[in-house]
Amino acid sequence: MFGKRSGPMDAKPPPKPVEAAAPAPATPPAEPSVPAAQVAPQHQPSQPAAKPKGLGDTGASESHRLQDVKIGIFNDLINSVDLTEISKLSPAQVREEITDIVAEIISMRNLVLSQGETQTVIADICNDVLGLGPLEPLIARDDIADIMVNGYDKVYIETGGRIILTDIKFRDNAQLMNICQRIVSAVGRRVDEASPICDARLLDGSRVNVIAPPLSIDGPSLTIRKFKKDKLTLDKLVSFGTITPKGANLLKVIGHCRVNVVVSGGTGSGKTTLLNCLTSFIDTGERVITCEDSAELQLQQPHVVRLETRPPNLEGVGEITMRDLVKNCLRMRPERIIVGEVRGPEAFDLLQAMNTGHDGSMGTIHANNPREAISRIENMIAMGGFTLPAKTVREQIAGAVQVIVQAARLRDGSRRITHVTEIVGMEGEVVTLQDLMVYEILGEDANGKIVGRHKMTGLRPKFWDRARYFGMERELSEALDESLA
Ligand SMILES: Nc1ncnc2c1ncn2[C@@H]1O[C@H](COP(=O)(O)OP(=O)(O)OP(=O)(O)O)[C@@H](O)[C@H]1O
Ligand SMILES: [Mg+2]
Repeated sequence: MFGKRSGPMDAKPPPKPVEAAAPAPATPPAEPSVPAAQVAPQHQPSQPAAKPKGLGDTGASESHRLQDVKIGIFNDLINSVDLTEISKLSPAQVREEITDIVAEIISMRNLVLSQGETQTVIADICNDVLGLGPLEPLIARDDIADIMVNGYDKVYIETGGRIILTDIKFRDNAQLMNICQRIVSAVGRRVDEASPICDARLLDGSRVNVIAPPLSIDGPSLTIRKFKKDKLTLDKLVSFGTITPKGANLLKVIGHCRVNVVVSGGTGSGKTTLLNCLTSFIDTGERVITCEDSAELQLQQPHVVRLETRPPNLEGVGEITMRDLVKNCLRMRPERIIVGEVRGPEAFDLLQAMNTGHDGSMGTIHANNPREAISRIENMIAMGGFTLPAKTVREQIAGAVQVIVQAARLRDGSRRITHVTEIVGMEGEVVTLQDLMVYEILGEDANGKIVGRHKMTGLRPKFWDRARYFGMERELSEALDESLA
């Protein structure tokens, strides 16, 4: 077998026998006291730091018994096999190796395990060695939007718009930290006490954030925004009731006619999804440049340049900010600039771009309603140290942004587009807005689901002439007219 430390298992003193209901090893290996980054990034196997709860109790549950068996088998495995070597194999080979060795350990120790239990033990050990340990089953599920780990014993997921506590637990914070380390080291970063905040991406494109102690007080905190291979399309959003077919047509006109758009919304409200949908209406001939902190957008057009920011390195140098990217974009002959998330002084550069002929540029912003989105942009510009009078900044905003699309996650977990709002101009010092479409909440049904409806306001958009110019006047008038089926 590949990677064995000392040939056949019986060539060395056999490890302590594992009995089905036996307690965890008497002298568990000490948890690493060195910073996690110094711990072998790939395979610090999940060794038990302490006896799992309930062990040794006469009434220990089946799952505890299986957990004990797994720990015992795992310890035998690491005593007989060099996991660093084994990790160099392909995942399929690793599984094959582990299956063989585990079968050998089970027969040597005379363990009584059903076929199903054996498979569970093998799968768990493979997950520990190869992947994200206890998170693997969650990663495999496609109905999960977010995975949130608050220390080793609390793993939450967001599914169907609801946040749920799972019964998944890591053995201890060291195991969790090792997995965090393994994730971030795959993209050449590291997380430890010296640099406890880190953004990374999983191989499948999922966005990851790790914040480690001492900043995160109760153990490492890991947040994963699962990457959806099949991104939600506008049609799917219509089928979910996020927007009506007419509303979707309005967005189609907005995307196609090169209207400058800001998608606004709270955290996880579906801003990036919506931005991605809007980009699908960009003409294939247009040169599009995207700037993101972590590449999430999936544009289908052929002529796209994707840019990503970079955090500072360990010496604190080399950072490339969103502002650097947006400024650089302007020298790349873009036709449209798409900024994944506007959250700082790059707002100023995006407005400049929108004001200087890069029509159809788009970005997302964290805000709870369209009016607030405008003040957020104002604040971001102020934070960037631009000492412009408030009126000038507002004029810039009013001249640049044409439409704000507001997304929201309602309290029942459903996601809705609550406003399609147009910026019409300025009245004195105030930016004037007009809603083209709004979502009205009417009440709640027997199951606690929010009942509401999308309503066109009937106002004539300021970008009407633009729609005519792009040959989409009819589509626009049909989308806005609710009396037409
Ligand atoms: N209308 C929708 N209906 C159901 N699920 C949705 C909808 N829009 C987005 N989602 C899902 O919700 C999750 C969050 O979406 P998204 O990443 O677009 O949110 P966000 O507002 O950009 O979040 P963040 O603030 O973290 O950047 C994703 O898993 C996405 O697939
Ligand atoms: Mg987002």
